[in-house]
Amino acid sequence: MTTHRTHLHLRAAGTSLLLELADDLLPVVRHWGSDLGELTEDELASLALAGRVAINDSPFDRADQVAILPEHARAWIGRPGVEGSRGGRGWSPAFRTTGAPAPGVHRLADGTQRVVVQARDEKAYLAVELEIELHPGGLLRTRATLTNTGEEVYDLGAVRTTLPVPEHADELLDFTGRHTMERAPQRQAFTAGAHSREVRTGRTGLDAVHLLCAGESGFGFGHGEVWAVHLGWSGNQVTYAERQYNGSRVLGAGELLEHGEVRLAGGQGTTTPWMYAAHGTGLDEVAARFHAWLRTRPQHPIRPRPVTLNNWEATYFDHSLPRLTALVDRAARVGAERFVLDDGWFGGRRDDTTGLGDWVVSPDVWPQGLDPLVDHVHAAGLEFGLWVEPEMVSADSDLARAHPEWIFSAGGRRGLESRQQHVLDLGHPGAYVHVRDQLLALLDRYDIAYLKWDHNRYLNDAGHTPGGEPGVRAHTLAAYRLMDELLAAHPGLEIESCAGGGGRVDLGVLDRAVRVWASDCIDPLERQQIQRGTFLLVPPELVGTHVASGRSHTTGRRHDLDFRASTALWGHLGIEWDLTTCTEEELVELATWVAFHREHRGLLHTGRVVNGDHHDEGTWVHGVVAQDASEALFEVALLRRSATTGPHRVRLPGLEPERRYRVCLERPGRPPLEAGRGVVPWAVEGITLPGRALAQVGLPMQPVDPEHSQLWRVLAADLC
Ligand code: GLA
Repeated sequence: MTTHRTHLHLRAAGTSLLLELADDLLPVVRHWGSDLGELTEDELASLALAGRVAINDSPFDRADQVAILPEHARAWIGRPGVEGSRGGRGWSPAFRTTGAPAPGVHRLADGTQRVVVQARDEKAYLAVELEIELHPGGLLRTRATLTNTGEEVYDLGAVRTTLPVPEHADELLDFTGRHTMERAPQRQAFTAGAHSREVRTGRTGLDAVHLLCAGESGFGFGHGEVWAVHLGWSGNQVTYAERQYNGSRVLGAGELLEHGEVRLAGGQGTTTPWMYAAHGTGLDEVAARFHAWLRTRPQHPIRPRPVTLNNWEATYFDHSLPRLTALVDRAARVGAERFVLDDGWFGGRRDDTTGLGDWVVSPDVWPQGLDPLVDHVHAAGLEFGLWVEPEMVSADSDLARAHPEWIFSAGGRRGLESRQQHVLDLGHPGAYVHVRDQLLALLDRYDIAYLKWDHNRYLNDAGHTPGGEPGVRAHTLAAYRLMDELLAAHPGLEIESCAGGGGRVDLGVLDRAVRVWASDCIDPLERQQIQRGTFLLVPPELVGTHVASGRSHTTGRRHDLDFRASTALWGHLGIEWDLTTCTEEELVELATWVAFHREHRGLLHTGRVVNGDHHDEGTWVHGVVAQDASEALFEVALLRRSATTGPHRVRLPGLEPERRYRVCLERPGRPPLEAGRGVVPWAVEGITLPGRALAQVGLPMQPVDPEHSQLWRVLAADLC
């Protein structure tokens, strides 16, 4: 019997995806990686044929590659794409595509290539729709909708999609972390078995996997092939890399469901979050694909990101009006454009033990409402922003006293307290309406440009009261809906996703939020690492980066202002420092840095993020290169001293090899260097070299003390 095979070849920005549909089976990925160029139908068929191994290498009488939705029924011996059953039946579906129209590649208005495959298993009474999209920037995404076509309930365990990676992807990189230390990278060999990162705490996590990458041994920012996936979801989830004895390697992701969390009634379906995937030569190219996708969405902010002053590390719960207005005045003086009032303005919230859930302005602290502060902020020419934590409730709050049944509890017991707070179950319609209406009332009453939306604790042991059914999924969807409703009611409102720092950084929440708070740690030494990891997924303009006070509140380290500022410069700049305690010199210096940021944020917030693969781990080099490579800004940071004295030559990635560039040392607020001992000659007046020489030979860095950095401004010589 001959098999009828269809091949779909999707290509974009250096990436190819080759799908094979054999007869009525689900699509198999024959290639996902570098662009294969224009190929004829015969060549595609040959390429797909070349991907098939001998049957004696398979435990079954067929040898197949894994489909995007893997099926045991099709000789896949790893994690299946669908888990679930109908009273023990229908647990191993074998899907067959359904009739016309045959899957083809559709081009959407924005250039995205899209393939939709519909299939059914008539015996298991299940239908599936697979969506596969390749964005013009090379970002790939897949998701599945599973529908119960029978009458009896189908108890769903999981729906996950996967993508194969080749055998030379033999090293894994993902991320972990904790409060004040997010995005810590971890590497390991891609050995047999599953490396599975599971989230059961109801939010993406301070220890989030962030990106799960498989690549050629030793891959770096600019070298080695890398394949990476990320799940666009803020609730429970699993992201995994799985390798079989036969060499098959996949990256996969999906929502993690508790028992009984999704029970599909007859005719009911459920859609997975998108799994996003990018291939590149080095991590910078992978990041560029995520950034390109995020930047072309209609909701991407196009106006300059307003420099923000947040009062948290400046005044904490001290909300005295004179103190705050003095802070606003200083903020305006140094060039801030937005003032954010953090925790402590509502209900009985005088410290972190009470008041969450009562989203009304506290008459004790704000007898005239927030008007005096908001008016002062506006009069100073700044926008006003407000901190909220809508999904939380303090046991000591009017809300908890009135509606204990809206608080998550599993098995007839209220869950553990954490940070003296509980989670409000937004899956309860009453709880949802309560929070929505209180937030809408605030947004209607005050001119609020921005909400810092916090989410400070885990949703562990989170069940609906009174039955205790698992509630994270419904809650996550309700939190998304709540953000969507507020944004629809107040066009122009901006939301920041914060979760005890960087605990909710994912492409699900970023469908709504236009800023993520990377970490509660603004010690610049730690921040170099945290931001480097965060920027791999999220472009800098969507990442809050703040200038801290001289002594870090989270680590106790002290740093000079230029290192604090040059570290914060790159993202959505903010200040989190009691400026009323600053000296005149500090204010002038800070204002210079803010002005420098405002002058260059057009470049910083649209360019390509690049990182140096430097031989000396104590020296970190990163920068942003304009999309047309006409200019760039680099930071060369000395994080640790080295056992060698030099030359500490810094190579600059990302420039055009043939183009000549002028490189100058930038010293915001400081005079140019004069020639002499301790000064590298090129730094006195700058130097002009071709991009190739800068990338391959580099320049020696100007000596600096550890925990300091320097900025290098690069401009195409033809534009100087
Ligand atoms: C979290 C946030 C901080 C601050 C506090 C307020 O920790 O990450 O930035 O808003 O909550 O309680």
